[in-house]
Amino acid sequence: MFDDLVITSLPGSSESDEYILVVGGLGYIGSHTSWELLKDGHNVIIIDNLSNSFRSVLDRLLSLKKTYFRSTSREPSLRFYEADYRDQPTMNLVLNKYSFCERTNLYKDGITVEAEQSRRSRISGVIHFAAYKAVAESIQQPLKYYSNNVGGLISFCSLLSDFGIKTFVFSSSATVYGEQANGTGRISEEYCTHETTSFIDAHGQARTTQGGCTGLTNPYGRTKWMCEAILHDLASADPEWSIFALRYFNPVGCDPSGMLGEDPRSLASNLMPAVAKAMTGESPVLQIYGADWDTRDGTAVRDFIHVTDLARGHLAALATAPRCKGTGAGFQVFNLGSGMGYSVLDVVAAMEAVSGRRLPVQLLGRREGDVAVCIAEPTKAATELGWRTEKSLEDCCTDICRFLGVSPASDTIMI
Ligand code: NAD
Ligand code: WQD
Repeated sequence: MFDDLVITSLPGSSESDEYILVVGGLGYIGSHTSWELLKDGHNVIIIDNLSNSFRSVLDRLLSLKKTYFRSTSREPSLRFYEADYRDQPTMNLVLNKYSFCERTNLYKDGITVEAEQSRRSRISGVIHFAAYKAVAESIQQPLKYYSNNVGGLISFCSLLSDFGIKTFVFSSSATVYGEQANGTGRISEEYCTHETTSFIDAHGQARTTQGGCTGLTNPYGRTKWMCEAILHDLASADPEWSIFALRYFNPVGCDPSGMLGEDPRSLASNLMPAVAKAMTGESPVLQIYGADWDTRDGTAVRDFIHVTDLARGHLAALATAPRCKGTGAGFQVFNLGSGMGYSVLDVVAAMEAVSGRRLPVQLLGRREGDVAVCIAEPTKAATELGWRTEKSLEDCCTDICRFLGVSPASDTIMI
């Protein structure tokens, strides 16, 4: 059924090769992560239903790969299946293609007394990006969100389990901290847990967090917390699972090639797409929601993380998975952020400096549900995953300009 949809299986990849399955791999973060996986030599299988992405992203990934590996003999494979990850029969077919039976003989006095058959997979890990993510839409259509983000995850994990695939990286979000992000300085993982946790906070105070969700204001945020809770319970029940919930802060920027970027089908309501539209003239003005927050310049402060740094965080998580097996650390949570806070006006200034264009802004009232400050405490990922951010806010703006075909400031005079 799927042979027509296998885009490429290139020389060098044999039947014994391993694959990483990337679900939602043509979206903004998924495409960047797929690209980092390929550069690192991993064979990649992408599942995407194109509900918020375009097939052209696949062409771009294939073209980047061809150029990058042109002088090597070991080019990793990239395969794509257009499918909804909730479609069990289809997912079953896809997973079957990569599965095989392993026979283990049990001996007694040199004679085979029993043979055990177990199902194994050439998929060594899954990164799960597929979800709906628009906060406002989740308030209007909560069931759409619970069905895709939560319902989908439950059946998908049980299918993966049937195939013996138990290394799983989940796209979580800083949104799970809700209003707790305000006033704590950098927020650490222990502020939102799935079991009672005692820790020393940034001010040296002993604290205890009860497992649960606190102060979440929208269904989208709740789906992320629920998925984490489900994955936590799954890993507690079955120690063969190795699960990483990565809490992204504010992903921005794009690959320096300018070939990949943020190009959703739906209208993006995040800051950076709005900044980009004001810069290119697609919008007449950047509307800034809230200039009266208790911050340095009155605008909200966020931890903006370059999407390439974020993508590499997934590779770091996968690399530690074999070490975690059997250690009791079946479910782990990591903040993926820089630990640095920039305000909305800092972002405007950085984009103006990089593009050489003045951004018209309009100051409006606060957006409902926003927090003043949200900054990651990134130490746990640095210590346990050996991962930290490398790129600056300026890099993010430069790479966005490249993706949009806007000349850098050095070529332009500010008007
Ligand atoms: P995106 O919409 O660009 O990518 C998601 C991809 O998944 C899209 O290509 C979409 O077509 C696909 N998809 C959705 N539902 C699917 C389904 N049922 N079956 C198959 N494919 C499906 O979003 P993104 O910004 O790349 O986010 C990826 C993940 O990271 C999401 O889970 C999101 O909640 C999470 N996240 C994003 C941000 C952010 O600011 N972008 C922040 C924190 C967490
Ligand atoms: C940042 C600041 C806005 C647009 C959201 C989700 C969160 C996560 C990341 C997925 C806020 C202001 C924005 C605009 C503005 N996504 N702003 N003008 O709110 O930190 O997080 O994306 O998990 O769940 O809630 O990011 O980029 O939307 O906003 O002034 O046109 O920029 O009010 O203060 P946020 P954001």
